[in-house]
Amino acid sequence: MPVALSVRQAGPFDAGVLASLHGECFARAWDEVAMAQFAASPEVLCLIGSIAGGAGGAPDGFLIVRKAGDEAEILTLGVAPSRRNMGLGRALLQTATALLRAGGTKRLFLEVEAGNEAALRLYRSLGGEAVGLRTGYYEHGADAAIFSLAL
Ligand SMILES: CC(C)(COP(=O)(O)OP(=O)(O)OC[C@H]1O[C@@H](n2cnc3c(N)ncnc32)[C@H](O)[C@@H]1OP(=O)(O)O)[C@@H](O)C(=O)NCCC(=O)NCCS
Repeated sequence: MPVALSVRQAGPFDAGVLASLHGECFARAWDEVAMAQFAASPEVLCLIGSIAGGAGGAPDGFLIVRKAGDEAEILTLGVAPSRRNMGLGRALLQTATALLRAGGTKRLFLEVEAGNEAALRLYRSLGGEAVGLRTGYYEHGADAAIFSLAL
């Protein structure tokens, strides 16, 4: 049975839950102060997604994009480990691309660790094309693939 997904724009009052979700998804968590700044910035699109049936409708995923002129870049994207593979990552990206397109953004850039199959497949399935590689980009030495998605 298909699950019900919802995506909404985050506000500064969501900073705590954004920081907590980020910590579930990445080894180096971004703190609440940073999340509050993102959520308050007009240059940043901050989305929160939920899958119906979560604990009290709790947020399950997030996506943060920085806009610059007619381009934008995904700063971070994550879905809580226990809620993956249910379509929320795709829904967050599709909502972001629709909002960015409506606001005049022409191209979205995404960086992903080489070997992160889930993210690579998700980006490719939405039409993202690999346009470059940053060798040793991550602290632990892994390369980053740069994807570009025409909006
Ligand atoms: C990448 C991530 C956000 C995907 O979120 P998700 O909600 O699980 O993704 P979805 O359920 O929407 O799946 C969308 C597509 O991603 C791909 N995908 C998802 N999980 C996958 C997996 N474990 N292996 C391979 N492909 C996968 C598939 O192509 C899938 O489409 P399909 O189901 O039609 O085949 C999630 O795995 C995550 O939070 N990872 C840790 C953080 C991260 O790597 N973020 C991205 C880089 S910043």
